[in-house]
Amino acid sequence: MKKVHIKSYGCQMNVYDGQRMADVLGQEGYVETATPDDADLILLNTCHIRERAAHKVYTELGKLRDLKRERKAQGRETTLVVAGCVAQAEGAEIQRRQPAVDLVIGPQTYHRLPELLAQAKSGRVVDTDLPPEDKFDHLPAPKLAAIVARGVSAFVTVQEGCDKFCAFCVVPYTRGAEFSRPVAQVIAEVERLAQAGVQDVSLLGQNVNAYHGDGPDGRVWTLARLMRRIAEVPGIARIRYTTSHPRDMDEDLIALHRDLPQAMPFLHLPVQAGSDRILAAMNRKHTGDEYRRLIDKIRAARPDIALSSDFIVGFPGESDADFEETLRLIADVRFASAYSFKYSPRPGTPAAELSEQVPPTVMDERLYRLQALVEQHRQEFNHAMVGRTVEILIERNGRHSGQLAGKTPYMQAVQIESAAHRIGDRVMVQIERAGSNSLFGRAVEQPGLAA
Ligand code: SAH
Ligand code: SF4
Ligand code: F3S
Repeated sequence: MKKVHIKSYGCQMNVYDGQRMADVLGQEGYVETATPDDADLILLNTCHIRERAAHKVYTELGKLRDLKRERKAQGRETTLVVAGCVAQAEGAEIQRRQPAVDLVIGPQTYHRLPELLAQAKSGRVVDTDLPPEDKFDHLPAPKLAAIVARGVSAFVTVQEGCDKFCAFCVVPYTRGAEFSRPVAQVIAEVERLAQAGVQDVSLLGQNVNAYHGDGPDGRVWTLARLMRRIAEVPGIARIRYTTSHPRDMDEDLIALHRDLPQAMPFLHLPVQAGSDRILAAMNRKHTGDEYRRLIDKIRAARPDIALSSDFIVGFPGESDADFEETLRLIADVRFASAYSFKYSPRPGTPAAELSEQVPPTVMDERLYRLQALVEQHRQEFNHAMVGRTVEILIERNGRHSGQLAGKTPYMQAVQIESAAHRIGDRVMVQIERAGSNSLFGRAVEQPGLAA
């Protein structure tokens, strides 16, 4: 039996892609292994978003070259594959820097993996095509057993690529132009997931709320329409979507947070910065106040919604005053959580050419202050849950025996002690305590609500 080890870096879409590659390789007789040491095929599914992420790949490849040599000395062959966004961005350069790499494959040609692996037997191969055919038409549906093994929450890519061209970002270059999967294809995939016990789906896209897929009625469907249809799939109890762009939050999608019970009260809506001058330089196409007004509308539809964002500190030209504007926006909105990053110049992006790069020590200090403020709001949001009773979807066993771990509708991790429940149950839980990373609660009797 041939074994494959897949290591995914970066965003949730890479995790999903890793699963789809495992599915296609499964058809070729590969089984997955958690360690590289016993793998005949090692696949790094890479991320190019910041310099550090891209750099990690080469460090890892150095180690894998040594492993490949050791295995060779024992008479075992190892095929080394680099997939993902670094593959798309750097192509043949990867094999120039690390000749042990057999195959470089970009995100839009994963359906060609079997034929490319066959070609790679007789020499190194690079495929960073953006082909006209749709890879999803050619990727096999996952086996039911594979879905079950992945748990009750699953990702489904519905949209890929980005046409927004934020000045700092490589994604439009690594993932290509915006593309939406047809509705029927998405529904078929969700139905299959539901058959295998999935109850919680996260719809993925670099700009997921720009979704405009071909509907079965010959019309173009929006994300809101797609979500309403997904909510009709028996067994699907929770629907989330990520990542959205503020410009594409339409009225219909906002209303869905009020009207559709399966739409979870959680929204990741990156704003990046608070200063209008910086937002314009970033080519974000919205101001700080437009974002605030949008948040007001969303909260009017769903007052308890948990909001999350991404922030970049130290974008070229960001002054102290600009940064204070970011803190002011955070104080106004009060996010339940957020990711924040120091600006990293990326080759080929417009912002990398700008003068006035912000010194690293200034970025460090800004990041520290921003994270402290976000953390304060996150803790307040979590502590406000104490005493409330909410539905938890149990996703896995907890750290200790008798413990189960799940998520609130707001995406918070919760631990409960219970011998009576199991993975996949939806159970009403009274929150008793908020730890720094997890809530703790107790199942309360609510007949009919548990799954
Ligand atoms: N819309 C995308 C965003 C991908 S990048 C999505 O699907 O998630 C995730 C986050 O990384 C961005 O929101 C941004 O905050 C950050 N980021 C992107 N490029 C960056 C760069 N050059 N330096 C630092 N952070 C960056
Ligand atoms: Fe990158 Fe901006 Fe597109 Fe998000 S919207 S993927 S940050 S270019
Ligand atoms: Fe990274 Fe590509 Fe995702 S650059 S964040 S893996 S889209």
